[in-house]
Amino acid sequence: YSRRRGLHSSPPKPPSFAIAFDIDGVILRGETPIGGSPQALRRLYYDSATAATISALKIPYVFLTNGGGVPESKRAKDLARQLGVNISPLQVIQGHTPFKQLVKRFENDLIVAVGKGEPAVVMSEYGFKNVLSIDDYASFFDNIDPLAQYKKWKEIQAVKQHASLTINPDSERVGAVFVVSDSIDWSRDIQVLCDILRTGGLPGRETAHQPPLFFASDDLAYQALFPAERLGMGAFRIALESIFNSIHPKDMEYTSYGKPHPFVFKNAENVLTQVVQSAYNNIEADGGTEPFKTLYMVGDNPSIDIKGARQAGSPWFSILTRTGVFKGEGNHTEHPADLVVDTVEEAVDYILRKEH
Ligand code: G3P
Ligand code: MG
Repeated sequence: YSRRRGLHSSPPKPPSFAIAFDIDGVILRGETPIGGSPQALRRLYYDSATAATISALKIPYVFLTNGGGVPESKRAKDLARQLGVNISPLQVIQGHTPFKQLVKRFENDLIVAVGKGEPAVVMSEYGFKNVLSIDDYASFFDNIDPLAQYKKWKEIQAVKQHASLTINPDSERVGAVFVVSDSIDWSRDIQVLCDILRTGGLPGRETAHQPPLFFASDDLAYQALFPAERLGMGAFRIALESIFNSIHPKDMEYTSYGKPHPFVFKNAENVLTQVVQSAYNNIEADGGTEPFKTLYMVGDNPSIDIKGARQAGSPWFSILTRTGVFKGEGNHTEHPADLVVDTVEEAVDYILRKEH
């Protein structure tokens, strides 16, 4: 037991509730903490919120975001720095986190990973063996982007000698495309993805069967730092799909992950059980954890976070904040939350008072 728990004669029982926090529009906007998020999170720990072990965690919680672009371990470190509390990689569930369940199917295929951050590193860490970011992939094909010379902001990339890559993209079909995070260069990415998808994974060749295409989420918009919402991965999907369907006889096939899909909430529940087990490491000896009585989802987007929690049903309880996509006075009409508050700090205050 931690020093603190050693004071008790019997080990403390874990709470019968847990919390899932959305990130953008609830915890952060851009890199900036919002809504009193650092103070709110600190209340979920024993006195040593920064202790480097998960045993300092009093109330089990996870981050449940549709965003991403970096491995969960790196995101946990970034969040810990931004919010001033210790965060375990286990507590970070990103839009692309479920992609690791597809490793067996595509383990040795050539994978193209799209998006901001380090999409290829994310996929390699999940166990995919032959991954190229779309930047690196495009660099194998001279003149694939006729606008490249006008993109003065782009670094020139030449990775044709990529040492760890055992296959040659000029002759090897792309086995699957994963949109890991938001596309940075829509014009180049839509062009190259249309090339890959319509040719069965061999740009410039004849038409062939479309390789599988996966999106980490389908958010039309998200909050970010600008006062008005910004276009998200769902907007990019619509753009790609409508262009692809205009130039190709067969409609684009794809699968998108992320909230509001019910399996995301089911998975969050399982992860929260694991968080309890590692925070209260005595639990298994005592006969395992009890199922949660209440799981709180704190989100800013009615059609993503609240819809998802409502669809997931019991024991989920949805809390909508006004720090992001939702800015209304009352509740949302189409996807009403169980509770509407101004900030995440208010949400945590409500939860802790109710569960006391
Ligand atoms: O790009 C991130 C955005 O689509 C959603 O992030 O944390 O609000 O699910 P979040
Ligand atoms: Mg959000």
